[in-house]
Amino acid sequence: MTRIRKVVFPVAGLGTRMLPATKVLPKEMLPVVDRPLVEYAVEEAAAAGCEVFVFVTGRGKTLVEDHFDRAFELFETLARKGKTRELSALERALPPAGTFVYTRQQAPLGLGHAVWCARHLVGDEPFGVILVDDLVHARTPCLAQLAAVHAERGGNVVAVEEVPREHTARYGILDPGADDGRVVEVRAFVEKPKPEEAPSRLAVIGRYILSPRIFTILEDLPPGAGGEIQLTDAMTRLLAEEAFHGVRFEGRRFDCGDRIGYLEANLALAMERPDIAARLHAALRHYV
Ligand code: UTP
Repeated sequence: MTRIRKVVFPVAGLGTRMLPATKVLPKEMLPVVDRPLVEYAVEEAAAAGCEVFVFVTGRGKTLVEDHFDRAFELFETLARKGKTRELSALERALPPAGTFVYTRQQAPLGLGHAVWCARHLVGDEPFGVILVDDLVHARTPCLAQLAAVHAERGGNVVAVEEVPREHTARYGILDPGADDGRVVEVRAFVEKPKPEEAPSRLAVIGRYILSPRIFTILEDLPPGAGGEIQLTDAMTRLLAEEAFHGVRFEGRRFDCGDRIGYLEANLALAMERPDIAARLHAALRHYV
């Protein structure tokens, strides 16, 4: 089975659910505690063994590129002031030169279209996709859990989470086949079904391992729901040719593209930080 060397981060969405915060600031740069969301995603991909990090950006997203560059004046000033701890933390977060590559989605035509924009940078090998606003906090990074299933079984792999039945209309939902409690075979994807029509409560969240065949399918795919080129539609077509496995990942997902999910992620991660937890706990008592 092929190792997953490349990961795609589609970061060209408009982030309308988080306006006005995202009017100028890319959603992926919103901080969770004190690190931008995109850093968590990059760390997760690196922990899964990825070596090439492909960003599909759009207008107004240059801060994402800047974040992974050497901020010359800042580094100089920190060095001069002897702030070695801060400086070495920033140095550690810098990627090895040449491992981050960027392409632009010229208009937000949908997630499927954003993934297709990465086709020449990915080439002919299976690859990971991380939706940066889905922050997954886990002992074993979520993409690594998917990569392990890919190594065992091959095919395409998606992360799935059981959601309340009344929320099925917000997600792509699986029609499940054989299920061993951890890995569930996918019979079909149903995009945003009404609760009474949903074949299960297993929702696809923002982690995928896909075969490069998806690019050929996306090439001719007509717009779907919302007039956008939908990744789920392409996955449905691919399912006729190749297996898809759903992984009930270990860990907690926070939808940071949504206000409550974002605030909860901040609380959950801050409460695990020894330098913050006690003071935050005391502060929270004042509000709840
Ligand atoms: P979302 O559905 O969260 O859309 O996209 P969005 O535009 O970012 O946010 P809202 O719903 O308006 O608040 C899921 C992922 O797909 C990317 C987004 O950046 C996000 O990571 N995406 C979506 C693109 O890169 N391009 C697109 O055309 C659409």
